[in-house]
Amino acid sequence: MDNWPGYDLNLFTYPQHYYGDLQSVLIPHGIIVDRSSLSMVLLIFWLLDLTVTGRRNIEVSRCNIGIERLAKDIMKDTGYCDIMVLCVLKGGYKFCADLVEHLKNISRNSDRFVSMKVDFIRLKSYKNDQSMGEMQIIGGEDLSTLAGKNVLIVEDVVGTGRTMKALLSSIEKYKPNMIKVASLLVKRTSRSDGFRPDYTGFEIPNVFVVGYALDYNEYFRDLNHICVINEHGKEKYRV
Ligand code: IMP
Ligand code: MG
Repeated sequence: MDNWPGYDLNLFTYPQHYYGDLQSVLIPHGIIVDRSSLSMVLLIFWLLDLTVTGRRNIEVSRCNIGIERLAKDIMKDTGYCDIMVLCVLKGGYKFCADLVEHLKNISRNSDRFVSMKVDFIRLKSYKNDQSMGEMQIIGGEDLSTLAGKNVLIVEDVVGTGRTMKALLSSIEKYKPNMIKVASLLVKRTSRSDGFRPDYTGFEIPNVFVVGYALDYNEYFRDLNHICVINEHGKEKYRV
């Protein structure tokens, strides 16, 4: 069901140093971040996609419209409480920056100002395009500072869900008041252990994606669109 090739690379601009390394554009940058015209653009892409392939390949959670809508849902659900945003580096940094910007705007335009703190944590579980099975926490503050806080974990992509489950169990020990997980992407994979984030931007096929801060061995973070890497790219940057 998930053999849609993605959008033709020739329709987009992207760094020359990645020419030949990518298969297709899965989610154009404008669709990830644009706020005003996004629903229209998305609808057009979605209809084109549906017409060409006869099926839906990119699910947008709750039929919503990307990061701005996620921010609204988060604010509504947390009851405008103070939030400790925990950004999972490095892949989550762009999503986190854009999400925090929207949360700030919503807070500014509401009756109650929401205080937000942002902290960063580094995890590593992938080498090449394979999960190493074991998650390493290789940075970040002392997690005990999360005690009693309303924690919003901001992650780039949930694949098998193992990374997020391991992180959640590390954090739960410190007794935060609330933990919610926002993931920009969730993969449709049979290897999923059933973990679902509280907030999802886009549901995607089970392919290895790069760009918008997501990497393959540290490459492709400087690519705006979320793209599918090809075999040549995997070989070129393999470690
Ligand atoms: P999981 O444990 O299989 O859910 O993998 C989650 C983590 O692996 C994410 O935090 C990413 O850092 C990384 N990851 C999984 N899939 C991809 C991908 O397609 N591109 C880049 N990183 C990925
Ligand atoms: Mg990640």
